[in-house]
Amino acid sequence: MVYRTIIEPFRIKSVEPLRFSTRSDRERALASAGWNLFGLQAEDVLIDLLTDSGTGAMSSEQWAAVMRGDESYAGSASFERFEATVRDLTGYAYVIPTHQGRAAERILFSETVRTGDVVPNNTHFDTTRANVEYQQAEARDLPCREAADLDSEAPFKGDLDVEALQRTLDEVGREHVPLVMVTITNNSGGGQPVSLANLRAVRAVCDEHEVPLFLDAARFAENAWFIVDREPGQHDRSPRAVAEELFRLADGCTLSLKKDGLGNIGGLLAMNDPDLAERCRNLLILTEGFPTYGGLAGRDLDALAQGLIEVTDPAYLRYRIRTAAYLAERAQEAGVPTVRPAGGHAVYLDAKRLLPHIPPHEYPAQALACELYLEGGVRGVEIGTLMFGRAGVDGHDSPAPHELVRLALPRRVYTQSHVDYVGEVIAGVRARADALRGYRIVEQPRWLRHFTARLEPLSATT
Ligand code: F0G
Repeated sequence: MVYRTIIEPFRIKSVEPLRFSTRSDRERALASAGWNLFGLQAEDVLIDLLTDSGTGAMSSEQWAAVMRGDESYAGSASFERFEATVRDLTGYAYVIPTHQGRAAERILFSETVRTGDVVPNNTHFDTTRANVEYQQAEARDLPCREAADLDSEAPFKGDLDVEALQRTLDEVGREHVPLVMVTITNNSGGGQPVSLANLRAVRAVCDEHEVPLFLDAARFAENAWFIVDREPGQHDRSPRAVAEELFRLADGCTLSLKKDGLGNIGGLLAMNDPDLAERCRNLLILTEGFPTYGGLAGRDLDALAQGLIEVTDPAYLRYRIRTAAYLAERAQEAGVPTVRPAGGHAVYLDAKRLLPHIPPHEYPAQALACELYLEGGVRGVEIGTLMFGRAGVDGHDSPAPHELVRLALPRRVYTQSHVDYVGEVIAGVRARADALRGYRIVEQPRWLRHFTARLEPLSATT
């Protein structure tokens, strides 16, 4: 007998209470946060789907590893264990720990990218883009064509457009492309995976032009699972074997260990080039710490090493990827369109189609995100004109290409009934969609406004 229900592949040893609230409690909390979900106190949130970064639950083996942590400033045994685990997984010779992913990005780009350079990527994550641009260089997104069609069920919508990469290298010239990056999975593109075939093709182009290839590997295990599940010829392999191959197709990686490291903090930079590693380590000492801890505690390194081993467990990945797909199905059943197929770490609700009566400059995805919170205490994040729009000449923001709400699933934190509840909340919001109103910004900073802007709901008469 094959059972249909994919159960959580763990049982619970330690619990943390949730605090329930009423709609009027939440209305008060949201008003005092300036209708910005980043401004809420976490205890006023019932189910927190703001991010899957650093929000996961550690296993009992990881907590045991915490106790093994060696806090020696130099030459700590925790670092040796961390380094051996990362080398085994990735094959890279040089392993540099950092406090999180963006620190690895800053160090890598400081040492490789110069003014006027172009860095191609399937799609840069915000911090990756910001760190490239900080070097006065261009962060060029080259997503595959299927990525633009939110409805397409294409299995590898995270792929990089190889022809566009070839064109970029021909136009810009090898001397102005210090490296090519591929983000697995493509977070900004809906959590979609990159195929092995695509990464091999990118590798071939990089070889032809003698350009190094780096992975932004924050969600490498989820990407490996999608390859095993969807890519012809890969079904009999383990996600671990596929992950090992992904890393070996590149010359190095940046990795936010707050995702598939199953840690609450941590990152790394790894590579095969000894000269580059030497320069990166020197920069690491300047801002992060000595090369055997890089801004982390010894206990973090031990817990992360254990996390990197656990994360490719097929039972864990099957449950993880199925959870996101299940939530997307609940949303679609309720009549709320989502990006298809569901991502690995998150479900992206399409507010543009759910709320056609709210124009982009009145932030439809923010309206949906706020309503999910007011309805059921569920916190997601707006990925639309509030995040990406720019102030236009007529006073209206230029619209972002999509108006999405990302519901990101923390790893091993919520159970099936929590996810069912979120599905019901989405259905509840759907039932009142026509009555939802837009928002206007009353206060905003110059950069990254979505984190701290204050907004105000527009009334039915405005
Ligand atoms: N790369 C990708 C693909 C990411 O998703 C993130 C973080 C980073 C790099 C940066 O890593 O946060 O450790 O410095 N993404 C989080 C998110 C913040 O919510 O998607 P970090």
